[in-house]
Amino acid sequence: MTHQIIKDLNWRHSTKKYNANKKVSKEDLTIIYEAMRLSASSINSQPWRFVVIKSKTARMRMSQTFAHKFEFNEPHVGESSAIILFAHNPEYKRENYAEVVDKGIEDGRTKPENREEAFGSFFFAELNTDENGNTSPWTKAQLYLALGNTLHTLARLKIDSTPIEGLDIDLVNQEFKKELGGYQCEVALAIGYQHTQDYNAKLTKSRRSLESILFEI
Ligand SMILES: Cc1cc2nc3c(=O)[nH]c(=O)nc-3n(C[C@H](O)[C@H](O)[C@H](O)COP(=O)(O)O)c2cc1C
Repeated sequence: MTHQIIKDLNWRHSTKKYNANKKVSKEDLTIIYEAMRLSASSINSQPWRFVVIKSKTARMRMSQTFAHKFEFNEPHVGESSAIILFAHNPEYKRENYAEVVDKGIEDGRTKPENREEAFGSFFFAELNTDENGNTSPWTKAQLYLALGNTLHTLARLKIDSTPIEGLDIDLVNQEFKKELGGYQCEVALAIGYQHTQDYNAKLTKSRRSLESILFEI
């Protein structure tokens, strides 16, 4: 019998058309947001920020960012239940890690007297910081872990989604500069429920064979 995890992963697909009349419930949104928050990241850095586009005004602003590029992704802005902007901190600093360390103390994971010691792991961030203070390749990698975790969570909830790299990144970052607070949006995720005309829902899933990608040694 096929395991439920495999069934869920086969069920999920990148939705190409959404049913504008069906919205993700508040209860499900709470689960999705909590799953995002619980995503794993190197040294627990959590170098991310998520901006959820739901209101009419925010959707209009998002729509405008498709004026010059990737117009095919634009219909999701109006038809999906929400678009989540996934953004990372391109200059992750010690003060950002301090927030993680102090939350660890607040959560009872780290003893207050071990605060300085907890900063030991920050050398991983330093290893991934260039001479200009840029941490993008590293922080972006963490962001995509959150994206993958969210995709799986949505599949388990039987909520449709579309990861969207087809964005005019410069325009998105400019339009939502205030909400992004210095974080850099790289990818968005539309969530909602498929339309009967979502052609991708009917296509067979296709992936490279296991033998060509995985080697047990
Ligand atoms: C990071 C990322 C970016 C993607 N960007 C887009 C996009 O801009 N528009 C789109 O329709 N699909 C996009 N996709 C969907 C992929 O094409 C899709 O995941 C892949 O073909 C596998 O198909 P499946 O998701 O239906 O299983 C993206 C997927 C990922 C993971």
